[in-house]
Amino acid sequence: MIIKNSFSKRAVTYDSQSFIQKEVNNRLIERLGLIKHNKSNILDIGSGTGKLTQDVEKKYPGINVTSLDMSFDMLQVHRNKNHNAKCVVGNAENLPFKLSSFDTILSSLTLHWCTIDSELFLNFYNLLKPQGLLLFSVSGPDTFKEFKKCPANILQKLRFNDFLDMHHYGDFLLNSNFKDPVVDNEQITLEFSSFNQLLKSIRLTGTNITESSNTARITKSEYNTIKSCLYNNVSNSFELTYDIIFGYALKPAKTLDKSGKLIKIKEIKKE
Ligand SMILES: C[S@@+](CC[C@H](N)C(=O)[O-])C[C@H]1O[C@@H](n2cnc3c(N)ncnc32)[C@H](O)[C@@H]1O
Repeated sequence: MIIKNSFSKRAVTYDSQSFIQKEVNNRLIERLGLIKHNKSNILDIGSGTGKLTQDVEKKYPGINVTSLDMSFDMLQVHRNKNHNAKCVVGNAENLPFKLSSFDTILSSLTLHWCTIDSELFLNFYNLLKPQGLLLFSVSGPDTFKEFKKCPANILQKLRFNDFLDMHHYGDFLLNSNFKDPVVDNEQITLEFSSFNQLLKSIRLTGTNITESSNTARITKSEYNTIKSCLYNNVSNSFELTYDIIFGYALKPAKTLDKSGKLIKIKEIKKE
């Protein structure tokens, strides 16, 4: 599977270059702190090398976090940092857990690699306990907008994914029964002192992974054009913007029966 293998190849170098991922994790944890709900049993989907899991465990000592990732190698790096980490190799699109298992589902910079639709979110909804929280971050459409300054013929050769707009996430959350979904976005721009450093950061974190089969080569002159498009002469640096969509939603305390009528959780358990 392309995503598993590509991230697996970056597992060892990932932590040294994952500036943006760390920043996004911090912002996600900040938001988690603002939401009052039970956080005792958490699932981290696409946990990678375990940074978010570890930060959450540090902030909320005594909680139980399960880290799930489809890349064994990423989880291995996590396990090397904490031998007691509860790691599960699995696919976010087909999660191997019982219904109503978690109080909170977290996911940082992972879901955009999945087939994103209401069904994906409905599966998360079903894994949550009543009043459970889903909190996630994904890449938005303006990610790497600097590359879009390149002429069309060069842009065609660059193999970047198209990321969904935040309004789709709001719709998917609503369609999968979540209550009061909130979706917003923040743009974070990184400044690199050299173009090579910028490319290294993209490559070593696996951010350039794409399902496109386009393998056209970039010529030397095209390379120089790309370089100049990413250069900002005011800051004297090469810039790379990440458009980050944050989403959160709660599972209601009560749920709907097949007729759409509200029924109490206690009544479901009795059936
Ligand atoms: C960009 S990394 C983010 C890792 C971590 N959340 C962080 O913020 O550092 C994306 C991770 O998602 C995992 N991943 C991608 N698609 C997945 C899927 N369908 N199911 C589970 N994990 C997946 C990759 O293996 C990778 O470890």
